Amino acid sequence: MKSKFLKSEHIKLYKRENSEYWQMKIKLPKKKAIRSSTGSKILKESEKIALKYYSSLSIENKIHIKRNEKNIYKKIHLVETADLDRKEIEFFLNEAKKFISFNKKRIKKNNLLEGRTIFNLFFEDSTRTRTSFEVAAKRLGADIINVAVKDSSINKGETLLDTMTTINSMNPDVLIVRHPEEGISKRISLNVDASVINAGDGSHEHPTQALLDALTIKNRFKNFSKLQIAICGDILHSRVARSNIIILSKLGAKINVIGPREWLPKNIKKLPVTVFTDMKKGLKNCDIVMMLRIQKERIVGKIMPNQKIYFNKYGLDYNKLKYAKKNAFVMHPGPMNRGVEIDSKLADDVTRSLIQEQVAMGVAIRMACLDILIKNRDNVFKH
Ligand code: CP
Repeated sequence: MKSKFLKSEHIKLYKRENSEYWQMKIKLPKKKAIRSSTGSKILKESEKIALKYYSSLSIENKIHIKRNEKNIYKKIHLVETADLDRKEIEFFLNEAKKFISFNKKRIKKNNLLEGRTIFNLFFEDSTRTRTSFEVAAKRLGADIINVAVKDSSINKGETLLDTMTTINSMNPDVLIVRHPEEGISKRISLNVDASVINAGDGSHEHPTQALLDALTIKNRFKNFSKLQIAICGDILHSRVARSNIIILSKLGAKINVIGPREWLPKNIKKLPVTVFTDMKKGLKNCDIVMMLRIQKERIVGKIMPNQKIYFNKYGLDYNKLKYAKKNAFVMHPGPMNRGVEIDSKLADDVTRSLIQEQVAMGVAIRMACLDILIKNRDNVFKH
């Protein structure tokens, strides 16, 4: 019997001794194998037929995403982690799980949010958050509009709230907003019908970042209550730190914050954290070391630290990582400044660094957020 594999083990072409025609065997993951004749005597032609058949079967084999009818989170906006209780946080993480496997599929397309309109409104720079919301929306079949806010009528004097109510009149389902003003997402949410997601408001909050960080940690450790997590660096100006402190402590983790005294918020003692200014002491017994970017854009009128001195004292390298638990993992929300906040080699060390996994979890969490909020909004505004 002659045989040939196409696409690794998934398609086999073979010719039995007594047959003139090529046969194909197609085996998709978790599906029964299909055997059929290509109807062709010529190998090249049968390869084409088999690949076409394989491709159409793969599209049919798209994951059917089952919606969880037991909705724990019932609000239509996601603007502050302070609004979330532990059960709601766990609900977001559990809902995101199905999208992790979906995102590993060859064909990543579903019609769960077909016909829905989502606006990305980023008044501050972004790579990860903006693109992952776009990827998330497109994978679920929604239409997403990236508003070029730098070229918008805000430049002609229109207020931000007027811009938002104008876009709201186009009947969008979700507005995703990043803006330097603290609390602006909440204000917008009180003025529009669309769901609002806070994609970062000044130094205040970045809820989807903290949810994706929690999901990344959950993939490695099942139980948050046994975890000691260090959050290190520019705590004062970091919305990621604030949202993570709230989310991770609600899940039961113990948090150490470590940073220069001048970069610790005045109210830090009111937060559920233990405070350190020394990496050696702060990293002791930690399972996770989360590094933060120095938020240069928010440090105005103050002298920036010398980068080399900062790295020596607060930058994470293999030597400082030894102060944490053996095999502790490293995280960074990005964008990272290599050689300032984190040693470049350590950042790329996939045995210790979860940085790329954080990005992947960002898409899954944002798919879950869009799905949950749109479903909730449907229940509020029954059209
Ligand atoms: N972590 C984060 O918010 O990254 P971006 O600024 O690239 O969106």
